[in-house]
Amino acid sequence: MPSIPAGVRGAIITGWGTALGEKVITNDDLSKVLDTSDEWIVERTGIRERRVGGTTAGLSVESGRKALAMAGLEPGDIDALVLATTTPDRTVPATSATVQNALGLRCGAFDVNAACSGFVYALVAAHGLIALGMNRVLVIGTDTLARITDWDDRNTAVLFADGSGAVVLEAQEAGTQLLAWDIDADGSAEKYLYCDIGGYMHMDGKEVFRRAVRIMVDSAQKSMKAAGVTADDIALVVPHQANVRIISAACERLGVPMERAATVLQYAGNTSSASIPLALADALNHGRVKPGDHVLLVGFGAGMTAASAVLRWGGTA
Ligand code: COA
Repeated sequence: MPSIPAGVRGAIITGWGTALGEKVITNDDLSKVLDTSDEWIVERTGIRERRVGGTTAGLSVESGRKALAMAGLEPGDIDALVLATTTPDRTVPATSATVQNALGLRCGAFDVNAACSGFVYALVAAHGLIALGMNRVLVIGTDTLARITDWDDRNTAVLFADGSGAVVLEAQEAGTQLLAWDIDADGSAEKYLYCDIGGYMHMDGKEVFRRAVRIMVDSAQKSMKAAGVTADDIALVVPHQANVRIISAACERLGVPMERAATVLQYAGNTSSASIPLALADALNHGRVKPGDHVLLVGFGAGMTAASAVLRWGGTA
């Protein structure tokens, strides 16, 4: 992966916000209609309950509005909106157009679909826009997987949910927050996780699990090497929230203690593009990150994509 050229204009995150589906579905709720149990789901996935409901645009507007308010910005201050989603509300137009209008933004807007790695892809793209002269970019990751989940299929119904997380990225002349990044994909693995238009998610759980750990670790190691940091330097890992066993296996291979991982899957389930910004916001809201800390974002998803980024919180200056 190319390293960030010296002197390139960087950015810092100045606001964040989240939104979750309104309806809570517990494991016990699922075990009333499926051949499953709270015990099995918790032990095999770490998920205790999940939130469903809302549209991709609606959840994005909620998280985006909160992020703007926290950054102290007006809609007119934003130069671009990048929305990561794998569940757009319509095929045309892009859901980002609906969100742009509802938030009152007057700027370019586009969707990014890299499945569960989408938020990190979008964050990297947003840094590219800032390097090219933009000042403030709103980056949102949202998915409404409940709509493409077959609720009669215990293989997938126990995992997926709806949510959204947003960050405001503002240019910083001296000292960037993004030290290094990596994006990857392997389209030959698409058969292990896919959803046809109008259909439901299909998943070979074991194969996805096996590959997920490997590609997350590979991507994270590339970013850490490019950033010149080791596992000891990482204060917080923000992994994609698919399965706590995937997170702990990846942490173990990276040499980062599990206590340093941010997790929200216990109450939010797997929200795809939203899972990393939801977990990041949760960690920030709980005071788990201080200026100067190294934060590793790392995701994987259908396609099979992987993406990672090493941030130095607050920037390098
Ligand atoms: N409830 C109860 N039992 C279940 C079950 C469920 N929801 N799903 C499967 N089982 C059963 C199986 O039938 C099997 O029974 P058997 O031993 O009698 O054959 C047993 O539990 C073990 O199934 P297995 O598929 O080996 O479970 P697992 O430990 O691999 O866990 C997943 C299944 C899906 C949780 C796990 O493979 C996973 O998380 N994979 C990655 C999925 C992922 O990350 N997807 C999103 C990517 S973005």
